[in-house]
Amino acid sequence: MFKKKKKPLNTEDIIDVVKNSGLRHIAYIMDGNGRWATARSLPRELGHSAGAKNFKEIVRYSRNVGIRYVTVYAFSTENWKRPEREVAAIMKLLDQYIDEAELEDEIEFLFIGDRESVDPRIRERMTSLEKLTVGRPFRVNIAFNYGGRDEIVHAVNLAISKGITTITEKDVSENVYTSDCPDPDLIVRTGAEFRISNFLMWQSAYSELYFSDKMWPEFKPEDVDAAIIEFSKRKRRFGGV
Ligand code: FPP
Repeated sequence: MFKKKKKPLNTEDIIDVVKNSGLRHIAYIMDGNGRWATARSLPRELGHSAGAKNFKEIVRYSRNVGIRYVTVYAFSTENWKRPEREVAAIMKLLDQYIDEAELEDEIEFLFIGDRESVDPRIRERMTSLEKLTVGRPFRVNIAFNYGGRDEIVHAVNLAISKGITTITEKDVSENVYTSDCPDPDLIVRTGAEFRISNFLMWQSAYSELYFSDKMWPEFKPEDVDAAIIEFSKRKRRFGGV
């Protein structure tokens, strides 16, 4: 007996899976740029350039299959500990990406994180990109100098500054950087590491987690499909039965 071979899913099928599973928001932990470069005897900075290129491809693909919100972890509050050369390379990639992002016409950008320690010129560009793109139909949140615990502390202090004395969960949700987005339905981490690394600590309470062994520069649209299909099979109970 021959086993009938399953037909591979095409983009239209994936769009249906996204629709039927209620998947609106995917967050990506883009890990493995450094190892990807080292395995090719390249400097780590080139791993980040390859990672930035892949980020654009994955954002474009996520949008094409009907995802409404994408969040990416581009630079954490801990990443300042890296060699100066590597930090400078990531800053330069962000600066270059803003040039391209300004030419996009359907993406709304939001930078989440503490931008006070970012170079003032880049900081200004981040803010003007947000202003330029506000209200557009597809949202990309770029976590930059971001830490999940730092965000919760920031949210609590923001609520206190508004005169709130007893902080509730609703107050925190309304004061985190992503207060105008639904929480991520799915968090994808590449790079064969199985942890959250201080990413979206508040928002990830009920997110489905998906881990890929691939390094970020080699994580491709078909890998997004695999994550989406896996998500569609999960039973989300949000603490119920
Ligand atoms: C983690 O890989 C990746 C980062 C710390 C930086 C991610 C940055 C980019 C993808 C490019 C910049 C993005 C934008 C939006 C401009 P790692 O360096 O920790 O890899 P490793 O674990 O293999 O060392």
